[in-house]
Amino acid sequence: MRATNGTSTQNGEAAVNGHAANGHSVAAPSAGVKGRQDKADLSGVFGGFSADASQEEKDSCSVDLIQGDIADPAVFNGIFERYITQGGIYAVIHVAALKAVGESGELPLLYYQTNVSATVNLMQSMLKYKCLNLVYSSSATVYGTPETIPIPETSPVQPESVYGRSKGMCEDIIKDVCHAERSFNAVGLRYFNPAGAHPSGTMGEDPRGKPGNLLPLLAAIAVGRYSQDGLKVFGDDYPTHDGTCVRDYLHVMDLAKGHVLSLDALEKAEIFQNCGKTGNYRAFNLGHGKGQSVLDMIEAMRKASGYDYQYSIVGRRMGDVPDLTADPTLAERELGFIATEDLESMCRDLWRWQSSHPNGYDEPAATNGVSAQ
Ligand SMILES: NC(=O)c1ccc[n+]([C@@H]2O[C@H](COP(=O)([O-])OP(=O)(O)OC[C@H]3O[C@@H](n4cnc5c(N)ncnc54)[C@H](O)[C@@H]3O)[C@@H](O)[C@H]2O)c1
Repeated sequence: MRATNGTSTQNGEAAVNGHAANGHSVAAPSAGVKGRQDKADLSGVFGGFSADASQEEKDSCSVDLIQGDIADPAVFNGIFERYITQGGIYAVIHVAALKAVGESGELPLLYYQTNVSATVNLMQSMLKYKCLNLVYSSSATVYGTPETIPIPETSPVQPESVYGRSKGMCEDIIKDVCHAERSFNAVGLRYFNPAGAHPSGTMGEDPRGKPGNLLPLLAAIAVGRYSQDGLKVFGDDYPTHDGTCVRDYLHVMDLAKGHVLSLDALEKAEIFQNCGKTGNYRAFNLGHGKGQSVLDMIEAMRKASGYDYQYSIVGRRMGDVPDLTADPTLAERELGFIATEDLESMCRDLWRWQSSHPNGYDEPAATNGVSAQ
């Protein structure tokens, strides 16, 4: 994710802290923070989810970006120190991680250091500075190859990659901290497939190198950033409606909403009432509950961008499972989370972003549509 002030985040954001119009510190991101005094203002930073945040309030939000390597324990302590005089940090949304499944097998120590050791660093600082609310970005990859589709949170956690294991380990660590420190409250959000972009077209995904995920790749092809020669569909003989793999895509705005709801829920004893002796940790799926196949996605992006994709069907890819669709019932019941954005709006918003920023954040936005090289 890119910082709101436009600064490059190549070296990683350690934290972003927002200031709303009223001057209170408020919000979020890689390892984000929220001012102790004024949690309602979070909506001003994430935008669009609070019924009472005016456009003026949203526009007047400013965001502090503090860059640092989260593998360095001193980074978190420095951030917590910095906000002591503003009432301290109320909560952390811990997003920062490395996330490429293939790469994680090649660089396991880097993944464990960045994803696991840094989470330990973060939690040590949180305990030290009495910041006891955490929303953690986990992943559906913790389920490995699940037996039940749609996947409930009760499915066994049995990740099949270093990346997935790093996420599962972090969930265990957080759970153990919640058990040992009974006033610590945490929610792990198991994202399915985040997709789309901010509806304004001003913020979107800007992968470095060839996009590893399907939708950003389709957008990059349509804008002329990548040739479509390499567009391959891995397998059309899966037991799905058209034979291609099915995944559960979720608009990034719905995903953001899930985080705001989780922060609210941390304060409600109800979500933890059945945790008993295990401490106040809950994991929730964030998904649509509706799967889309690879061919569905290609067709949806064709409609959004007008680009006529040519692709070849090749053999199955090792490690792919036919269907990874969330059962979002628990998040709906306990967090009030409902994904409202459909596939059409994900593709429309992604295309609005990509077509006005053909080279991502590296060049000024095009004003009249696509200007790919
Ligand atoms: N995008 C997905 O499909 C998906 C699915 C499930 C879970 N997740 C999880 O969501 C979170 C965000 O993913 P994303 O898609 O926005 O990825 P991203 O790569 O866009 O963002 C990750 C951020 O972490 C930062 N980071 C990495 N190493 C760092 C370090 N050592 N120090 C400081 N910052 C560092 C990066 O700079 C980047 O800003 C991750 O925890 C990921 O595991 C993502």
